[in-house]
Amino acid sequence: MTQEIKGFDLIAVFLKNKFLKDKYVIVRYFLPLSVMRISSEYALKQMELGNLGLGDEQVKNTPCAYGDPLMDMLLERFCPKVEANTGINLLPTYSYFRIYKHGDVLKKHKDRQACEISVTINFWSEDSTEWAICLDGVSETAIIQLNPGDALIYRGNELPHWREAFPGKLQMQVFFHYVNRDGKFAKWRFDKRTRLSGLHGVEFPEKTITIKIQEMMRANKKGFEKLKQFLFRNSRKS
Ligand SMILES: [Fe+2]
Repeated sequence: MTQEIKGFDLIAVFLKNKFLKDKYVIVRYFLPLSVMRISSEYALKQMELGNLGLGDEQVKNTPCAYGDPLMDMLLERFCPKVEANTGINLLPTYSYFRIYKHGDVLKKHKDRQACEISVTINFWSEDSTEWAICLDGVSETAIIQLNPGDALIYRGNELPHWREAFPGKLQMQVFFHYVNRDGKFAKWRFDKRTRLSGLHGVEFPEKTITIKIQEMMRANKKGFEKLKQFLFRNSRKS
């Protein structure tokens, strides 16, 4: 890993300076193709098996997963790369992913403290539809297109960000969240879980909500079946 990063030293210095100035940076080809392929196949399989949550407060009726073991493993594995592109020593907090469907909208928002440094990565897009993520930067609004494999690293709890309605069919987007190891949010290491990949309740102090992933999955099982049929019916129409 260390050697891999050294090969990109010059690019990393450029990106690091850009992140320092703008509080966000785009990293093209962040993800190796092999990781992208196997992870997206895995996520689609999880969706097919009914192992994903069915939506959350931000995006309703869209398959999603918090702290999935594979994604949390990647969160940790890619931490050095995010450190190299930001110049900040980081602690992983949690991963999250969604398989967005046609028409999904992400309202303008800032992330919570555990998302001090956020990374959103396009893992897979069914028909390569362009779908911009927008963010209010330090001096301007940025409209950013991410191709599969590309990542946007940004200060999630500082820069408001959003997406307009998704014009494509399906797109898998993965989020890696970190905090500054030496900063005031370091207490969010592992999102206050005892370890990564844990499927257990997590207290959100801002809202004092307890998310119980397994209960959510059970509760949504019926609705998920309907959604799955809808998604697969529509993905065959092309
Ligand atoms: Fe966000």
